[in-house]
Amino acid sequence: MRHLMNPLDFTVEELEKLFDLANDIEANPAKYAHACEGKKLATCFYEPSTRTRLSFEAAMLNLGGQVLGFSDASSSSAAKGESVSDTIRIVSCYADICAMRHPKEGAPMVAASRSGIPVINAGDGGHQHPTQTLTDLLTIRSLKGRLGDFTIGLCGDLKFGRTVHSLINALIRYPDIRFIFISPPELKVPDYITDMLTERNIAYEEVIRLEDCMPNLDLLYMTRVQKERFFNEEDYVRLKDFYILDKNKLSAAMDDMLVLHPLPRVNEISVEVDDDPRAVYFKQAQYGVYVRMALILTLLELA
Ligand code: CP
Repeated sequence: MRHLMNPLDFTVEELEKLFDLANDIEANPAKYAHACEGKKLATCFYEPSTRTRLSFEAAMLNLGGQVLGFSDASSSSAAKGESVSDTIRIVSCYADICAMRHPKEGAPMVAASRSGIPVINAGDGGHQHPTQTLTDLLTIRSLKGRLGDFTIGLCGDLKFGRTVHSLINALIRYPDIRFIFISPPELKVPDYITDMLTERNIAYEEVIRLEDCMPNLDLLYMTRVQKERFFNEEDYVRLKDFYILDKNKLSAAMDDMLVLHPLPRVNEISVEVDDDPRAVYFKQAQYGVYVRMALILTLLELA
């Protein structure tokens, strides 16, 4: 039985197969409409979510399966003190596969160690968000036609943003990736990541102003400042609007640059940018359904 805790759980070759399958699902949805008939997906979400939970549920419904679960720890027996280990043993009696989001880093890993069904990490604290990374990689591969040989700017909360940490880890396996980290000093990417890039001789720079690097970017990955991970409100308020991508800033970018964002957005991308053809963050959310369909089929060994 296989789980997904970290994007690196799949080799680059396995990811290629997964993305080919996702692209085939996009092109031929009817072919997969009954692939999971009789199967159930449990979504155990101890933290808020719109995209991840609903795209998992849409994915299973699109495959002809069914869904059950909870969207809030307070409506589950976690509120009475039940452990994640006990919960997953119970969920294993009711479902065939489980997607779990939890505010504590490592909680889905603990669940996987006690589970009778495949467990997918749907985001654990500030640690990893592997299915967002699969979504990001599929989006880049589908819209740019390649994974590799590009300069990517990651902008915003690079300290607490788990999507950023997962994506960097995944991208370093591809050739000729150049990273530009754009953040205020308080939200810079953790040292363990820059140390790892230095050790592997992977090119990166750290800048504060988005304007300083915009013309050099093939991809711009915007992120929100993670309010829920701050220890005090004052710091959050000071940093929350540090970056606002608007039409004026985007005018310095290349015509074929893509703007991605895992969403939700707060103020970091002005709504006037949404109609620019380079803004692909809503399309990215749609790719999230295709890749989660491919992942469910793969983990259930139905692909
Ligand atoms: N991108 C993402 O994880 O969004 P949600 O928090 O809405 O699931």
